[in-house]
Amino acid sequence: MKKLLVLLVFKLLLILTLFADEGMWIPILMQQYNFGDMQAKGFKLTAEDIYSVNNASMKDAVVIFGGGCTGAIISDEGLLITNHHCGYGNIQKHSSLEHDYLTNGFWAMTRAEELSNPGLKVTFLISMKDVTDLVLKGVDDNMTVYKRTSIIEKNIEEIESKAVDGTHYEARIESFYNGNQYFLFINEVFTDVRLVGAPPSSIGKFGGDTDNWMWPRHTGDFSIFRVYCDKEGKPADFSKDNVPLKPKRFFPVSINGVKKGDFTMVFGYPGTTTEYLPSYAVEQIQNESDPARILIRGKKLDIINAAMNSDPLIRIQYSAKAASVANGWKKWIGEVRGLKRLNAIDVKRDFENSFTAWLNSDKTMYEKYGDILSQYEKIYKELSSYNMAMIYINEAAFGSDAVLLALRMRGLEGSKDASEESLEWIKKDAQTKADIHFKDYNEATDKLIFAEMLRLYYENVPKEFHPAFFEELDKISKKSTDKYLTITDYCYSKSIFANQEKFNTFLQTFSSKSYKKVVNDPLYVLMKGFLGVYQTKIMSPYDKFTMTLDSLDRVYMKAQMEYQPNRRFYPDANFTLRITYGQVDDYDPVDGVEYEYYTTLKGIIEKDNPDIYDYDVPDKLKELYYAGDFGKYADSDGTMHVAFIGTNHTTGGNSGSPVINANGELIGLNFDRNWEGTMSDVMYDPDMCRNITLDIRYALFIIDKYAGASHLIEEMEIR
Ligand code: ARG
Ligand code: GLU
Repeated sequence: MKKLLVLLVFKLLLILTLFADEGMWIPILMQQYNFGDMQAKGFKLTAEDIYSVNNASMKDAVVIFGGGCTGAIISDEGLLITNHHCGYGNIQKHSSLEHDYLTNGFWAMTRAEELSNPGLKVTFLISMKDVTDLVLKGVDDNMTVYKRTSIIEKNIEEIESKAVDGTHYEARIESFYNGNQYFLFINEVFTDVRLVGAPPSSIGKFGGDTDNWMWPRHTGDFSIFRVYCDKEGKPADFSKDNVPLKPKRFFPVSINGVKKGDFTMVFGYPGTTTEYLPSYAVEQIQNESDPARILIRGKKLDIINAAMNSDPLIRIQYSAKAASVANGWKKWIGEVRGLKRLNAIDVKRDFENSFTAWLNSDKTMYEKYGDILSQYEKIYKELSSYNMAMIYINEAAFGSDAVLLALRMRGLEGSKDASEESLEWIKKDAQTKADIHFKDYNEATDKLIFAEMLRLYYENVPKEFHPAFFEELDKISKKSTDKYLTITDYCYSKSIFANQEKFNTFLQTFSSKSYKKVVNDPLYVLMKGFLGVYQTKIMSPYDKFTMTLDSLDRVYMKAQMEYQPNRRFYPDANFTLRITYGQVDDYDPVDGVEYEYYTTLKGIIEKDNPDIYDYDVPDKLKELYYAGDFGKYADSDGTMHVAFIGTNHTTGGNSGSPVINANGELIGLNFDRNWEGTMSDVMYDPDMCRNITLDIRYALFIIDKYAGASHLIEEMEIR
C-alpha cells in the first residue's frame, strides 16, 4: 500500500513537471530549461549529444538548405536529405520538356552524374553564444528608438566582423525575445551542392496543392543532395576537383518505425512566429491582412491553374510559382479559421485585462508599462490603411511577371550617356536576367493575371494610394466593356517587357538612346507609377510604424515576462537553429472524427486517379504495392507507412528538418503542419496542432525499391 502511494506521488510529480509541447527552444539552453522535461518525455541521450561546444554533436548534422529550408546530413560522404519542395526550384531548373526531372524524377547512379546547382548554399552552424551585453553596450532606456537602433547596428557590425576575422566563416547576430536578448552565430557556408536524387512529382509532390497543409497526407516529400568541398575540406565553388564533404557528424537512420506516444524531436530552422502579439495585432491579421492576401492569391491561382491544366509546358513553367502562391494562400485560410475557432482575439483580450489589473496593482510596473496597450491600439489603427496598401503593392501591383521584369530592368535607364563599355555590361546583365525570366513565362497567362491584379488594386485600395495613371483608366471606362482588359491589351501589345522576342530585338539594337524607349514603355510607366506610390506615400510611414512597433514589442515582451515569472517563455522563431520536442500523437479535427497518427501506401492507391494530376500514381509504385514488395522498410504490421504526425511545434523553415527519436536516430523529415493547426504561428493549441513528418522508411523504400538507387542506402548507417 505504501509502495503504491509512493508510486502515485511520483507519477503525479512527473505529470506536474511535464509541459505542453508548445515552444521552439534554443539548443545551448536546453540543459538549463528543458532537459528534465525532455527526459521525462522519453529522450534517452544527453544535452551534450544535442549541442556540444567541444565535440561533434547532433547540431553538426543539421543545416540550412538554400535560403529557407532545413536539411539533414545522412552519410560520412556529405549526403544530405531535405524535402522535395525545398529542392523543387533546383530540380525545376534542370528540367525541360526533353529532360523532365520534375515529372519523371532524377537519380544519379554515379557521382559523375550528380548535377551542380550554382547559387545553392548549405550552411553549417559552427557555434553560437549570447552576446546581449556587447550588443546593448552604450544603450539605455531613455534614448530615442533611432539612437538606440543606430548604436545597436554599429555594435553588431563590430562584433560580427571581429568574430570571423581571419577565418572563412560567416557571422550573424540575431535578436531574441523581440530585442531583449542577442545571440551570435558563426556559420560555415558551402556552395558546391549537387543534386543526387529526386522522386517524380507524382511521389514527391503527391497530393499537390490539393492535400497541402492537410492530414491525412501521402506526400513522399524528399530529395537528396550532396555537399562538396575542396581537398582541404573547405567550402569552394563548383569544381571537378572538389570532393564530397566529410561532415563532423551525420544522422544514423532508424527503420524501427514509431508508435503513438513515442518521443520525437525536430531539429531545424523555424522561420517566423509571432506568439506574443497584443489583441490589436491579431485582429489585424485575422480581419485584414490574411483576408486581403487570400483574395488576391485566390484570383491569381484561378488563372494559373487553368493555364497549367491546358498545356504541359505551362505546367513546367508555372509549377514552382503556383506552389508558392498556393502555399501562402492556403495557410492563411487555415490560420484565419484556427484563430476564429480559438477565439484568439478574446483570449488575448482576457490576457490583457488581467495584465492591466496587475499593472494597476503595482505602482512601479504601472509607471514602466502603464500605457503600452493604448499605444498599441493607436498604432494599429493608424497602420491599417498603410498595411493594406503595402499588401496590394506587393501582391497585386507587382503581382504579374511582366511588371516584375520591368521592375528588375530599371538598370536599362542607365544607358543614357553611358560609355561603350558600360552599355555592353548593362546589355549582358539584362540578357541574363531576361533569359531566366522568360524560360518560365507565358504571355497569355500573365496578361490575364495583370488585368485581374489591376482590377483588385483599383477597387480595393484607397484613392490616396492610386497611381496617377489610374486617371487614364477612368477615361477609358466610358467606351469599353472592361477597362482593365482594354488597358492590358494595349500595354502587352506595345511593351518590350511582356514578350521575349520584342525584348531580345530591343537588346540587339541597344544603344545610349535606348533609355528613351524604356521610359516610354507602357508597362514601365505603369511600374514606375506603382513604385512612385510606394516610395512617396508608403515606404517612410511604414518604416516608422515598424520601428515604433519593434520597440513596443520589446517592451511588451519584457513586461509579459515580468508579469508571469513562472511561465516558460520561448523566443519567437527567427530562422535560427531550434529544438522542438513532443510525441507522436493523433487528433480529432471535428466532432465525430478521429484521425490516425500515420498513413500508409494503401491510402495512395485509394487516391489514385489518372485524370487528376495531383493523384496520378505511377505504375511502378502500384506494382510494388500489389506485390507487397516493401523490403525491410515495411512496418511490423506489414504495411508501408508513409507519414506520421506529432505534437512538435514547428513553422515554415522547418521543412526538411530531421525528426529524431529518443536515441538520436533519424526517423523522418518534417514537411508540413495540419490545416487545423496553422494558426500556431500566432497561437498554439495542444489539442489541434500537429507537425507532419515523412516516415524515413518510405523515403528509403522509394530510393531502394522504386528508383533502384541502393548505392545511396549503402552509404547510410541504417539501424
Ligand atoms: N505546406 C508546406 C510548406 O509550407 C509545403 C509547401 C510545398 N508544397 C506545395 N504543394 N505547395 O512549405
Ligand atoms: N512546409 C513548411 C516549410 O517549408 C513547413 C510547414 C510549416 O509551416 O510548418 O518549412
